[in-house]
Amino acid sequence: MKSRNKVAFVCTNCGSSFASWLGRCPDCGEWNTITEYKEAAASGEVGSNEVASFAPLKTVLKDEVHPGKRPSGYQELDRVLGGGFAEDQVVLISGEPGVGKSTLLLSVLGHQKKTADSLRSVYISSEEEPRQLSKRAERLNVDTGAIYFSGAKSVEALLSGLEEVVKKEKTGLVIFDSLQGMYLSGNTGLPGSMNQSKEVLLRIVEFAKKHKVTAIVVGHITKEGDIAGPKFLEHMVDTVLFLEGERMGSLRIVRAFKNRYGPTDEVGFFEMGAEGMAEVVNPSAFFLDWEGKAVGKASIGVRQGVRVVFATVESLVVATSLAFPKRVAKGMDGKRLELILAILKKYLKLPVDKFDIYVNVSGGLRVDDPLADLGLAAAVFSSLTNKVFSPRNLFLGEVGLLGNIRPASALSRINKEARRLGFIKVYSSQNIRDITGLKQLSD
Ligand SMILES: Nc1ncnc2c1ncn2[C@@H]1O[C@H](COP(=O)(O)OP(=O)(O)O)[C@@H](O)[C@H]1O
Ligand SMILES: [Mg+2]
Repeated sequence: MKSRNKVAFVCTNCGSSFASWLGRCPDCGEWNTITEYKEAAASGEVGSNEVASFAPLKTVLKDEVHPGKRPSGYQELDRVLGGGFAEDQVVLISGEPGVGKSTLLLSVLGHQKKTADSLRSVYISSEEEPRQLSKRAERLNVDTGAIYFSGAKSVEALLSGLEEVVKKEKTGLVIFDSLQGMYLSGNTGLPGSMNQSKEVLLRIVEFAKKHKVTAIVVGHITKEGDIAGPKFLEHMVDTVLFLEGERMGSLRIVRAFKNRYGPTDEVGFFEMGAEGMAEVVNPSAFFLDWEGKAVGKASIGVRQGVRVVFATVESLVVATSLAFPKRVAKGMDGKRLELILAILKKYLKLPVDKFDIYVNVSGGLRVDDPLADLGLAAAVFSSLTNKVFSPRNLFLGEVGLLGNIRPASALSRINKEARRLGFIKVYSSQNIRDITGLKQLSD
């Protein structure tokens, strides 16, 4: 029987697939991104003359049990991974160029020697020369003695070579830096194209599962800054991590968008410096500005996975001459700021329309937790009315459209943590009924 090559049309931007070619992707709206794609019979598809094998579910489950994890050497990364890397886990890590992916991963390899010294690590780089990499290793104080390197770009050649390494020596982590720099020969599409990336990743996944090595694959983000990468790449891996941070700042945050082996709501904090990535185990110390009382400041607590992080919101409110006053929100969604301003206007009768308003979360933290609402309102209120709130007073509360303060989950846990850190007063739904309560607060 003839093996059929299935043809699909795939959008290189969002990964949606279609039965026929289209000029514009109906899913993401991009033009000229749909390319014809032949799924090779070798790419894991069951060919027409192959017979799938079945096994009792019980044994499948038994095989799925992962004995022990490989610590990354960073508590902060292990927290995101759920205790470390599983032995055949495939992790896709993406982030903007220069954010520190290669730096972080090289340090992870550096830590391997200390934590599991019988293991060999491998760094495959299609991006950098070995000289560049060893210079970086020197700067990061990474002992390269237990790290194998290859700069090959053909994935077949790489995996054949890797098989030799794995057979000879117990191999733990293998870094593929980057997915877009490798190719499968004979496959249509330039290196870096979606078609190539998919085929290359598939080979890596097969290899990792077969040989029980942890594969960490670096993926470039799309030009739109698509954070988690195309959807069909996500489906193929166990874990999708994203490394984010502002170019000018030193803070770096690792988040998991998908994690078969652990949580997805945990974040890991790092500080990027000349010696590489240092973990920030107590992020509150990094984000919280305890120094002095000032107008426009309010302390907040936000939930990041099971952890609570405390930070400072700063606000600057200045008279405007513009018909549409400026609203600039850094570290939070601008729409959230707009909403809080509307609430302050309606329920506290504050003349927000007459002011340009800037808000910022100190330390470069990005706040998505609605629990920050009350602190955001307090910071703007403070700057507008010149009323000072002590940094030792904490604001915790989601503000509803009626100006009400909603009771939050985990409040007692956050309260306890706040007292431990030295906060003196905590303002929340337990002692402020609605937003007008801001007026009555002392200090
Ligand atoms: N000698 C150095 N001292 C301090 N920082 C450096 C040095 N060389 C590079 N960096 C920093 O490391 C960053 C590159 O990080 P890298 O790990 O290569 O990022 P990625 O792999 O995500 O592209 C640069 O943007 C720069 O800020
Ligand atoms: Mg890099």
